[in-house]
Amino acid sequence: MTNDIKEVLLTEEQIKAKVKELGRQLSREYAGKDPVFVGVLKGVVLFFADMIRQIDIPCQIDFMWISSYKGANSSGMEVRRDVSADLKGRHVVILEDIFDTGNSLDFTYQHLLSKEPASLKICTLLDKPERRNPKVTLQPDYVGFVTPNEFVVGYGLDFNEHYRNLPYVGVLKPEAYE
Ligand code: IMP
Ligand code: MG
Repeated sequence: MTNDIKEVLLTEEQIKAKVKELGRQLSREYAGKDPVFVGVLKGVVLFFADMIRQIDIPCQIDFMWISSYKGANSSGMEVRRDVSADLKGRHVVILEDIFDTGNSLDFTYQHLLSKEPASLKICTLLDKPERRNPKVTLQPDYVGFVTPNEFVVGYGLDFNEHYRNLPYVGVLKPEAYE
């Protein structure tokens, strides 16, 4: 599996340090607000589990699962599994693995906004601004790392559902996906 990696972009140590920093920041900014952290499955699982352990204030966790579909007449995004908590009046932070074109986070954001939270922010491990859909004006509020326009795997991110278990973020060799 590691033979398929061309280059390690973010080491375990770099990720760990960044997660600690983001955890401190969120703990400070959400103190006394009992926030709900909503993870978007599946890519976020490793980041989510590490982040939540760096939050040292009372909080709640929840999950959503969305997927894109292509029907005969339309295509778009759908909610496969919705959050279970009532988000009305709550301070909500979406945790995501990557903000790429922004399409899926835009969808997730609008979906959660309709539940009338008191506030709604986005924390993403990776941001790939070069790939942004120009129609998406939404911006992530908390970013771990800005990454170059390359397809990355590991630390939850997949290619064909593989490589999620790598403890670091790396760039795949072209022969691994060709
Ligand atoms: P979006 O393009 O911002 O809507 O991102 C959609 C989803 O594509 C993300 O949540 C990831 O699951 C996946 N994705 C985007 N870029 C990458 C990448 O470089 N590696 C692995 N998955 C990616
Ligand atoms: Mg994802």
